[in-house]
Amino acid sequence: MDTNEQRIKIAVQKNGRLTDHSLDLLERCGLKFTQSKDQLFCFGENMPIDLLLVRDDDIPGLVSDDVCDLGIVGLNVVEEKRLSRQQEGREALFDRVFDLDFGQCRLSIAAPDGTPYDGIETLKNSTIATSYTGLLRDFLESRRIDASIEYFSGAVEIAPKLGKADFICDLVSTGSTLAANGLSEVEVLLQSEAVIIQTRAPLLGDKQALVDRILQRLDGVLQVQESKYIMLHAPRHALDRIRELLPGSEAPTVIPLEGTNDKVAVHAVCRENVFWETLENLKAAGASSLLVLPVEKMLA
Ligand code: PRP
Ligand code: ZN
Repeated sequence: MDTNEQRIKIAVQKNGRLTDHSLDLLERCGLKFTQSKDQLFCFGENMPIDLLLVRDDDIPGLVSDDVCDLGIVGLNVVEEKRLSRQQEGREALFDRVFDLDFGQCRLSIAAPDGTPYDGIETLKNSTIATSYTGLLRDFLESRRIDASIEYFSGAVEIAPKLGKADFICDLVSTGSTLAANGLSEVEVLLQSEAVIIQTRAPLLGDKQALVDRILQRLDGVLQVQESKYIMLHAPRHALDRIRELLPGSEAPTVIPLEGTNDKVAVHAVCRENVFWETLENLKAAGASSLLVLPVEKMLA
């Protein structure tokens, strides 16, 4: 039975830096979707897995409140929700399952260019504008800095110009927003990337098995991103050296070559990129007929 209750719901950012990559990742897991006319819902065609396209700031709440089973969102948003709930005396009911290796950025404090800055003590008695009040409060408390936090829901970078704050605390990705507003980073609070979170609410019926299956596929997709399959011929006596040179591979397969006693074929999955230098070193160690292939799917 495929009732609405038994379908998995994944919350994904509607419109932003994580959107394309999140959808691409799910498609690479073999999921196919039809998007609704209002583009806020994607119906899973080949598996009972649907997507809700929402504002990234809403994703941790939707997963915590069990409206969605999983969510793909920046760690910055996840940690902000966890800390702001904690500061209100409530617990956020989701767990971070794993990191997704895209959407890298950082949460930083920045000062108008030319502001004298002499370490974190400079922040004492200042006003800092941010939409990340939970993370900022936690940071300031842990460093014993008494400063006042001014909440801005957006356009934080203009707060100093408006005379509303001395510093800002916001997300920095390329740094172009800061540069365009004459601001420079002075402290980094958090390094962030996209992560997948799961609700703590128990998943009924077949849902847990389905969530496990999709998480395993996601893990496989992440692993193959960097992985390469490498094939080469080598003299038997050079095998130890060649094993050492193969980047991030555990146990290569060694196959005798028909018609020779001392030559073998070596096949290995390398869980890192294979660079030209590595191939040149392998060749210098005696390898020949080197071939590097991309890995499409992997299931541990
Ligand atoms: C962040 C932040 C800055 C911008 C920085 O907003 O608020 O405006 O990105 O990026 P840059 O260093 O590449 O210029 P985001 O796009 O995450 O929007 P949101 O806060 O509304 O989700
Ligand atoms: Zn946002």
